[in-house]
Amino acid sequence: METDLFFFLLLLFFVLVLSFDLTTAQIPGFISFDCGGQSNFTDNLGLDWTPDSQIIYGITTNISVTNETRQQYQTVRYFPADNRKYCYTLDVKSRTRYLIRATFLYGNFDNNNVYPKFDISMGPTRWATIVISDANVIESQELIFLASEPTVSVCLSNATTGQPFISTLELRPFNGSIYLTPFENQFFLGVSARINFGAENEDPIRYPDDPFDRIWESDLVKKANYLVDVAAGTDRISTNLPIDTRKDEQPPEKVMQTAVVGRNGTLTYRMNLDGFPGYGWAYTYFAEIEDLDPTETRKFRLVLPGAPELTKAVVNIQENAQGTHRLYEPGFENISLPFVLSFKFGKTYDSTQGPLVNAIEISRYLKISDGSFDGAVAASLVSGYMSLDWAQEGGDPCLPVAWSWVECSSDSEPKIISVKLSGKNLTGSIPSELTKLTSLEQLWLDGNALTGPIPDFTGCPNLKIIHLENNQLSGDLPSSLADLPNLSQLYVQNNLLTGEVSSGLLNKNIVLNYTGNAGLNKGSNGGRRNRNIIIGVVIGASALFLGFLTSCLLLRKRKKYSKTEPKRGMPVTTNAATEAAQSFTLSELRNATKNFENKVGSGGYGTVYYGKLNDGREIAVKILENNNVYQGKKEFANEVSLLSRIHHRNLVQFLGFCQEEGKDILVYEFMHNGTLKEHLYGPLARERGIKWLKRLEIAEESAKGIEYLHTGCVPSIIHRDLKTSNILLDKNMRAKVSDFGLSKLAIDGTSHVSSIVRGTVGYLDPEYYISNRLTDKTDIYSFGVILLELISGQEAISNVNFGINCRNIVQWAKMHIENGDIQGIIDPALGNEYDIQSMWKIAEKALMCVQPHGNMRPSMSEVIKEIQDAILIEKGVETAAARERSSGEVSRHSILNMGSLDLMANGQDLSIDESFTRPGAR
Ligand SMILES: *[C@@H]1O[C@H](CO)[C@@H](O)[C@H](O)[C@H]1NC(C)=O
Ligand SMILES: *[C@@H]1O[C@H](CO)[C@@H](O)[C@H](O)[C@H]1NC(C)=O
Ligand SMILES: *[C@@H]1O[C@H](CO)[C@@H](O)[C@H](O)[C@H]1NC(C)=O
Ligand SMILES: *[C@@H]1O[C@H](CO)[C@@H](O)[C@H](O)[C@H]1NC(C)=O
Ligand SMILES: *[C@@H]1O[C@H](CO)[C@@H](O)[C@H](O)[C@H]1NC(C)=O
Ligand SMILES: *[C@@H]1O[C@H](CO)[C@@H](O)[C@H](O)[C@H]1NC(C)=O
Ligand SMILES: *[C@@H]1O[C@H](CO)[C@@H](O)[C@H](O)[C@H]1NC(C)=O
Repeated sequence: METDLFFFLLLLFFVLVLSFDLTTAQIPGFISFDCGGQSNFTDNLGLDWTPDSQIIYGITTNISVTNETRQQYQTVRYFPADNRKYCYTLDVKSRTRYLIRATFLYGNFDNNNVYPKFDISMGPTRWATIVISDANVIESQELIFLASEPTVSVCLSNATTGQPFISTLELRPFNGSIYLTPFENQFFLGVSARINFGAENEDPIRYPDDPFDRIWESDLVKKANYLVDVAAGTDRISTNLPIDTRKDEQPPEKVMQTAVVGRNGTLTYRMNLDGFPGYGWAYTYFAEIEDLDPTETRKFRLVLPGAPELTKAVVNIQENAQGTHRLYEPGFENISLPFVLSFKFGKTYDSTQGPLVNAIEISRYLKISDGSFDGAVAASLVSGYMSLDWAQEGGDPCLPVAWSWVECSSDSEPKIISVKLSGKNLTGSIPSELTKLTSLEQLWLDGNALTGPIPDFTGCPNLKIIHLENNQLSGDLPSSLADLPNLSQLYVQNNLLTGEVSSGLLNKNIVLNYTGNAGLNKGSNGGRRNRNIIIGVVIGASALFLGFLTSCLLLRKRKKYSKTEPKRGMPVTTNAATEAAQSFTLSELRNATKNFENKVGSGGYGTVYYGKLNDGREIAVKILENNNVYQGKKEFANEVSLLSRIHHRNLVQFLGFCQEEGKDILVYEFMHNGTLKEHLYGPLARERGIKWLKRLEIAEESAKGIEYLHTGCVPSIIHRDLKTSNILLDKNMRAKVSDFGLSKLAIDGTSHVSSIVRGTVGYLDPEYYISNRLTDKTDIYSFGVILLELISGQEAISNVNFGINCRNIVQWAKMHIENGDIQGIIDPALGNEYDIQSMWKIAEKALMCVQPHGNMRPSMSEVIKEIQDAILIEKGVETAAARERSSGEVSRHSILNMGSLDLMANGQDLSIDESFTRPGAR
């Protein structure tokens, strides 16, 4: 009976697996370029290869000698060994993580037997140096990245020996949050090692066993100094039973079905890590695949030479994975590793079995280059000429090397200083983008077919040399050109210009040629000299010099202004006297509130009453608790006048104060729609709950208010008591944060002991709680809790809703999200009216916000960006494809497993995850 059931389940499982395989056979978004290839084909893995004919540069050829038979390796595309870069541009889906793989099989394609060496870059970021050392061996580079734009470019450059070439370029999208790291906006992951232990043969495991086509190298492949020093007693084991791997990085089942076991108590390996030393991402994949007797235990530790603190954590796979044949994936989100890595797993003294490892994966962090200063302008410029050669060079205009027609400054963030597009068949008017290249010194557009007027170049104050001759430009010769302080040569001859040459230009100490413009005359009151070329006017020099000086000052001044302008609002350092808060009398407030008749709220430092002033303004009057803590009126007034200088559309406006009869009273604008809390749970919520998009907008608005407190105020203000009852909604349901700045009043006022921890249970940052060290990351934690409430409609703390042994929304949400069950936490009141992708975005960010360590949490502005992305998705800006990708079997992700609450609940011994290198185990 029971065995029948077992076989039925097994059968069901295989049916499921099969259908899963069928659907993965057409993973959308796979791009496989057969570089130099001639035709489309499907290889025996089922991957569809296409020729790389999109790239117009380079020469395709067959390789001459090799033992490799796969079709995509029979050809290469190679490029001249010059100073240029040669780029592929690939379409990607923004905000999706990808694996990109470039491979190189030299095969003596040039019959020269000179092994090439060159660089490969990803946009402006240097990716790797490709060094060929054997004509028959495929070099491969892999990178994992989060797409932030609709395209990425991969470029070859810096031919040091031989000619740069490429065999294949492969792009594989991940779904969900596989390989999400807190650093993905600043760093790529350059894959160094991905090893399948206990492999059955030397073949790597990849697609279709791995639906994302990662390549899991067999541990049987022995390269020099790679996987050596294997401990005696290392056994290879395998199973045919299914393994549940649908979490975290979702390693393929086939990889997890094999492992090595240290029968003598240890597993040791030594290997070279390409690209290290440096900081990296290192994870281990475990699944218990031996049937251990209940009396047996398998507990072991990782030992890394020189990192004793990592040794504390004990792995007990069965316990950690909550069962056998299930994935447990602990690791380090940021760890410093050497080039030659020796590592060991050793059993604990009380364990009966030796350690077991199924797979490991190590990547290095590659700092993403911001690109050149003029990148966006240049991209917009070339987008207008996509059919022309020079516009198709691809990548960043300056990095790692400049386009052939561009010169750049050598700053770390290079700027374009020269554009040479002479005789390039340009038509239409002079592209306006050129006037936005603020550091431009030379502009060569001569010998094209440009028409229309000469634009205003005052935005390029460094211009020295301008060549516009031999075009069909019309209109006049702008007199503003004379204002360019550095201009020394201006060529506009042989155009269709009309009007007069301004005296400013004629008198300027420059080379000027405007012949061949039938309609263009020397100004009547113009030049002292009746000549086209005015060279070396010494007399004018000192006057010119003066003029130059003042314009520089003007320029500087303007710059300064524009720099400070966007700094929002009022820094608190401005003179207090000018902006003192309004002082209300108690009788005024009695009047307005009908003698404090209508109580609208309490808590958060006091009780709040509704009121209406004589001028019709509706107000909220808060009577602070801790009566009479301010000895003098002046002291209180000083404190609150600080508040009156904090203005932001997402902060509840402070109107004034009153201190009479021993009462400290604060007056605010009245917020008609009450607290966010009431809208999330309770009777009001049931009546007319708020939709997901509205929740996102509320999140964005309150986040902006908090960001302003953190970054827009000097000194910055930490709220300390963020919660849904402190987020208020106005008439138009716009969110504003309230009660900011009060913690200081309350704390300093009551006890003068500023080390008292303030905050509300459930929202309280555990790190702050333990250390008493207050930073803006304390607010981030609380905001993460608010995000979780917005997703789930659950209160931060609940004795009933979170199940046994779990009273806290953070613990509860993390558990669900880590098990891939985001549906399990989504507020049922939302129905189906949300996009799962935006939900994931917020869930992931929320978990980042509640990381146990403050420095792992994002800043408010990062959070805002994520919320805004989610809003875009929700508003349907994303295409149907994105929806498709995110529907169905949603991958899940756990960013951390650090047990944020356990940390404070009981000071249990640190696990592997809590060592000082801040790993994120999953
Ligand atoms: C190859 O396949 C692509 C689509 O994958 C198609 O656009 C292209 O025309 C095909 N090329 C050839 C030469 O068949
Ligand atoms: C490459 O090989 C194919 C078939 O073997 C042949 O048709 C083609 O002409 C060769 N190309 C070059 C550039 O030698
Ligand atoms: C070709 O030979 C090289 C050694 O020269 C070896 O490393 C490589 O694996 C071989 N490739 C194939 C497909 O046999
Ligand atoms: C080009 O490569 C050489 C050798 O690999 C290296 O020293 C040099 O810095 C590289 N140049 C650039 C511009 O990356
Ligand atoms: C490993 O264990 C086996 C048997 O248990 C023993 O024969 C062998 O000497 C041990 N090897 C080492 C290096 O301890
Ligand atoms: C310019 O365009 C014309 C016609 O469109 C073409 O014949 C000519 O080859 C082009 N010249 C250059 C330098 O691209
Ligand atoms: C000015 O331009 C015309 C036409 O290109 C040329 O013939 C003449 O030599 C130029 N004058 C000078 C001084 O360069």
